[in-house]
Amino acid sequence: MNPRTARRVLIALWLAVALAPAATLSRHPYLQNVRPDRATVMWTTLEPGGGAVEYSADRKSWLTAAARIRQFAPAETGLPADFYQYEAELRGLTPGTQYSYRVLVNGRVLAEDEGMRFRTPGPGPFQFLVFGDSGVGSPEQARLARLIEVERPALVLHVGDVAQGAGSFNEYEDYYFPFYRELMKRAPFFPAPGNHDYLTRNAAAYFAVHALPAEAVPEPDRGRYYSFDWGNVHFVSLDTNLPFSEALRAGGPMLEWLERDLAQTRQFWRVAWFHHPPYSSGFHQGAAIRADLRARLIPILERHRVQVVFHGHEHSYQRTLPLRDGAPAQDQGTVYITTGGGGAALYPFRPHPLMAFGEMTHHYVRAEVAGARMTLRAIRIDGQEIDRVTLAPAPSLSDTPVVNAASFTPRLAPGAVVSIFGESLAGEERVAESLPLPQDLGGVSVTFNDQPAPLFYVSNSQINAQLAFETSGLALLRVNTPNGSAEAVVLMTGTAPAVFTVPAASGRQAAVVHATTGGLVTREAPAAPGEFVTVYLTGLGRVDGAVAAGQAAPRLLARAPVTVLVGGATVQPQYAGLAPGLAGVCQVNFQVPEGLAGGLYPLVITADGVASEPVELAVQGASAVSLPRPLGAKRDP
Ligand SMILES: [Fe+2]
Repeated sequence: MNPRTARRVLIALWLAVALAPAATLSRHPYLQNVRPDRATVMWTTLEPGGGAVEYSADRKSWLTAAARIRQFAPAETGLPADFYQYEAELRGLTPGTQYSYRVLVNGRVLAEDEGMRFRTPGPGPFQFLVFGDSGVGSPEQARLARLIEVERPALVLHVGDVAQGAGSFNEYEDYYFPFYRELMKRAPFFPAPGNHDYLTRNAAAYFAVHALPAEAVPEPDRGRYYSFDWGNVHFVSLDTNLPFSEALRAGGPMLEWLERDLAQTRQFWRVAWFHHPPYSSGFHQGAAIRADLRARLIPILERHRVQVVFHGHEHSYQRTLPLRDGAPAQDQGTVYITTGGGGAALYPFRPHPLMAFGEMTHHYVRAEVAGARMTLRAIRIDGQEIDRVTLAPAPSLSDTPVVNAASFTPRLAPGAVVSIFGESLAGEERVAESLPLPQDLGGVSVTFNDQPAPLFYVSNSQINAQLAFETSGLALLRVNTPNGSAEAVVLMTGTAPAVFTVPAASGRQAAVVHATTGGLVTREAPAAPGEFVTVYLTGLGRVDGAVAAGQAAPRLLARAPVTVLVGGATVQPQYAGLAPGLAGVCQVNFQVPEGLAGGLYPLVITADGVASEPVELAVQGASAVSLPRPLGAKRDP
């Protein structure tokens, strides 16, 4: 392009922007569905236009996300004129990162200010706010909104009755967006629908103004209920509306989804919220929904160790004792918090035996999450903290608490890598970065007979550790966390060989490699007869020399006699001992028998007569041999 042409193009572009009609902002931009890798920005204007959001992590290089536009006509909204709602999805974001954004329509910046910035979820402490029953436009709602505005939450949960009148479009425009405008542009609101939100055309306005997580939710129910992770918390929003019996019926789509959703999460914290309270007292005490909630919903939440549940509907603050099956819990329980004091007229209530604290007052709740601790505070409309409770779930161990990390069987040998299973073991997932392995990861430690075990990995439900070479017989396992300890007695055997598996294109694949290249032996890359291969395993037991667990191992032979079985034929290994430079890993090197016909063979390593589970060994050749039995699926360590 010559300079003259380039100048003409620039002038044409400038004219296009200058002459494009300006749009009038009617609903200020607000965040929705902020996630580790994406976020949604929404706003409305009175005239149609081409909308976009520009966003940047460094305020130097900006990316652009085009917005979808949707026209809302008076016939649909009951408002006097058309308006246009824009929804832009910002993609490719980095977790735990702050982004600035600005909103454009027809190429002109329509909204940009210092407050338009947010942080994507990532590791580390964060805060969230909870309130509900707010949408009336009362002086109390306005006063609380001003208090909330100076808070620094990462996200906000709303327990419903966002529009406390009839759930109409004009109530959202009057009593929702203007009140929380400053907060909504820097923290996403994650609501649950209340009964009032449903009063106009089955919550049409509630669904229209929100863009909520949709993953795994059945298509017709999207927006009604959803879940997402933020840091180490799994958040679950539920819909207790519609005819209650339908929303909560046994085997209904929401409860089926909830069972699946909670079974899959590995997060330390599980937080749920919905509109109707199962345990509070007061105005709605006699509601039939309470029995449905207790019979159908609460058992699912408690079985999956949801630690805290928020709801509104009852216009007061009420916190229960930790409960299990409707009674104060002996050990770990679920705390139920009614936070329906966001602005609507208050309801009186009487204390009841399950209540730890209650007050008939306008308020909101601030939750501070820091690893394995969560502190909940109720802040009254005068700014005073009226209630505080810190949740610190103690660890517990599974019925079979320790298994071999390669085979997931309970056979344990000195020096082996093991997996410890339980709940509330570590507040945040941590991985050891280097050798020697640490004896403390994120405040979590493990001992066997009071000897600290080196740690590879800790998470809510699993810890991977290395056993000491000196351990034998019965050992007392203790998992120590900032919230307490859990103990179990485990039995060590002399040897427990088990071949590691690694992820591969065709599913998990045994860790058997070509000795010359280090590449995996697979059906596509089989071993040649006469070739040397290396098997990586754990559990060969004691070794011929001194090495501490957790250290990078030297080359040391296993004390136990080791043999290799290929398709039932015995092969003497060239080397069987520690894998040099690694911790807890053994290796066996052997030569594939020279005259072996091509095919798939079961490969078994025995140590002191104890056999590993067979893994597949693919050998080059024309004919195929099938395995005697399936090798079985294993959980990931
Ligand atoms: Fe309500």
